[in-house]
Amino acid sequence: MDLHSHYPALSDVKARARRRIPHFVWEYLDSATGNERTLARNRTALDRVLFEPAVLQGPVAPDLSCSLMGRDYAVPIGISPVGMSGLIWPDAERLLARYAAEAGLPYGMSTVASQTPEYVGPCAGDQGWFQLYPPAEPEIRDDMLRRAKDAGFHTLILTVDVPGPSRRERQTRGGLVQPPVLRGKMIAQAAMCPAWSVGTLRHGMPRLRFIDSYMKPGGLLPSNAHAGYLLRTSPDWAYLQALREAWDGPLVVKGILRAEDAAKMAGVGVDAVWVSNHAGRQFDAAPATIEALPGVRAATDLPVIFDSGVEGGLDVMRALALGADFVMLGRAWHYGLAAFGAKGLAHVAEIFEKDLIANMQQIGAQRLADLRGQALV
Ligand SMILES: Cc1cc2nc3c(=O)[nH]c(=O)nc-3n(C[C@H](O)[C@H](O)[C@H](O)COP(=O)(O)O)c2cc1C
Repeated sequence: MDLHSHYPALSDVKARARRRIPHFVWEYLDSATGNERTLARNRTALDRVLFEPAVLQGPVAPDLSCSLMGRDYAVPIGISPVGMSGLIWPDAERLLARYAAEAGLPYGMSTVASQTPEYVGPCAGDQGWFQLYPPAEPEIRDDMLRRAKDAGFHTLILTVDVPGPSRRERQTRGGLVQPPVLRGKMIAQAAMCPAWSVGTLRHGMPRLRFIDSYMKPGGLLPSNAHAGYLLRTSPDWAYLQALREAWDGPLVVKGILRAEDAAKMAGVGVDAVWVSNHAGRQFDAAPATIEALPGVRAATDLPVIFDSGVEGGLDVMRALALGADFVMLGRAWHYGLAAFGAKGLAHVAEIFEKDLIANMQQIGAQRLADLRGQALV
């Protein structure tokens, strides 16, 4: 089937994904916190960013290549870390990592992935970034860093927008607990999604395999506690400094919205700042990331990575125009996986690329650098 004829937009892929995964999994993937105002705000604010079309430019063949932290990429998009990807689609971490290696784009693996770095890292080739939810114990932190490095992850992401668990009301209503257990209506939901169920039976019910490897044998977790929270702390500047000393590769701080925080990062030895509101999953009063971006851009000379709510190439163009150097996507890749399995990833990438090219042509932009400053604000 020609996916482009039937599923030309991410919204088409998303609609199919929703039909192919159980409702409780959908609620995990697609929900935010509170009344989901931050989630909605991301969309509204992106839509507000307009450009003046440029006419009589002759042929425009946009070049999407860029570089970030010393590496070259053909397209300015990558894969944001997503916890428990393997719940969303069986073996998702490995499929994402393999695709990243083939396509040449960065893959961020979460501390709370359903697989270990040893299992996923070799698949990511040279594209592995490891995202850390900061463990309180320095020995555990160092062991995690060592295991990630040994597995081939060269760039470390510290996520800082999770000072505590957020309330994800839709997830709670959906019945998801940690580790996931199928009960009651969830069994009926799974039965209606044969591809997901067969794959999940084959790979085993996903759990936090990396975190679990640090749990004391026989230690009992309350059924609704996210094992990750038992281990992690809320980092401060001293923690970041210590992490900088403990990790000898590029270090990225994810979840920055305030310009004054961004301004301090270079001084701590951070290599890039990541503007994110976790797709609205943490704080329902957070600004849209696209609104925070210009302030962060103005505050630092470090590379700026952007995510949260990006749904097409036009949104990528908006972010690049307002100061981002690179754009990451979280849910979009998972919609692709849930809709079409592994081949959905290339389809999602193609949607973004084609859309970015088509929109750059409208404003006569040949290179990504031509976008900067083009947005009408
Ligand atoms: C299901 C889900 C799980 C996530 N888990 C993590 C995580 O473990 N670590 C992290 O830093 N961010 C996590 N995020 C946030 C993503 O890294 C990213 O910031 C966000 O998804 C980007 O927005 P988008 O999904 O609209 O592209 C998660 C997001 C989703 C949707």
